[in-house]
Amino acid sequence: MSSTPLNNPEELENDLEKSGDFSFLDQTLRPNKFDEYIGQETIKQNLKILLQAAKERSHPPEHVLFYGPPGLGKTTLAHLIANEMGCQVKSTSGPAIEKVGDLASILTNLSPGDVLFIDEIHRLNKMIEEVLYPAMESGVLDIIIGKGPSARTIQLDLPPFTMIAATTRVALISSPLRSRFSGGTFRLEFYTEDEIEKIIKRSANILGITLSDDAAREIARRSRATPRTANYLLKRARDFAQVNKGDLSSKYVADALALLEIDELGLTALDRKILEVIIEKFKGGPVGLSTIAAALSEEMATLEEVNEPYLLQLGLIERTPRGRLATPRAYEHLGFDVPEDTQRKLL
Ligand SMILES: Nc1ncnc2c1ncn2[C@@H]1O[C@H](COP(=O)(O)OP(=O)(O)OP(=O)(O)O)[C@@H](O)[C@H]1O
Ligand SMILES: [Mg+2]
Repeated sequence: MSSTPLNNPEELENDLEKSGDFSFLDQTLRPNKFDEYIGQETIKQNLKILLQAAKERSHPPEHVLFYGPPGLGKTTLAHLIANEMGCQVKSTSGPAIEKVGDLASILTNLSPGDVLFIDEIHRLNKMIEEVLYPAMESGVLDIIIGKGPSARTIQLDLPPFTMIAATTRVALISSPLRSRFSGGTFRLEFYTEDEIEKIIKRSANILGITLSDDAAREIARRSRATPRTANYLLKRARDFAQVNKGDLSSKYVADALALLEIDELGLTALDRKILEVIIEKFKGGPVGLSTIAAALSEEMATLEEVNEPYLLQLGLIERTPRGRLATPRAYEHLGFDVPEDTQRKLL
């Protein structure tokens, strides 16, 4: 591509049109239709019914909440729903709505049928939640004008809209808020290896990457059962093959992933450190997540949202009321002898 100055968006757009190279944009890989969205079959079936019924009644679908670990496709689903309904998405996030006025202005600027997508909904503050309840339930906005005895409430009617919210931490959402997602609350599951392989092949196709079946399977195996990771590893392996002037074979996948310190189970250096800390410093556990986070100088929220779900999924750790325990599989994976009392602790 020619050296377009980045501060000239118009020229950049022209250049892109000529070269057709949009591949650096993440949106390129984002499925827009149910048919392109691989996996999560139960969720798709439920959503299709919700949307079809809404279309037949000529009314926007009811509000839905998606939750689950990062990179499983929550934001993608929100955009896909809007696309399937042929309507606009207005996106914001919990931390971006600081004042009641921010929410009021977002809500009053909606057009009929719009999707309002609120990411990281667990980070909304309580005062804003209170304003959201009547908006979600009855489509009205209650605004208090003035202070003290002269204060009065005025009620504004909002256009009909669908709220779609996403969170990685559903436990932090208050039950009154949760119960207002009348269209459903959906938990996204980790993907199977076959599904991830399909996603990798679809992405390779879009990005014009030729890769062998072996290479696709090798990337799938190490993708933490997560589409975002799969796309990321595909691109890194592509770089590796390109620099080495070779085709994307499983050998380059293995080399690229070794350089990224991702092992054959898809664990990152941090995942392995978590297991090592539990095993070496805390005799296999049980140990609280905050203690593990302190020992590693990491944020507890990161460990809880990003690392723990996958380690649990693989059966490398278990969650007990007294803390996290390393399972025999964790010892074996890191090449430690399994202590005799490990099984007993797990009971
Ligand atoms: N079911 C799917 N089929 C194909 N590709 C997918 C699927 N789900 C997600 N992807 C791809 O993975 C990427 C990450 O998905 P997305 O941004 O929707 O995750 P998320 O759940 O919103 O993550 P976060 O919690 O970090 O916001 C998308 O850009 C898309 O390319
Ligand atoms: Mg998202």
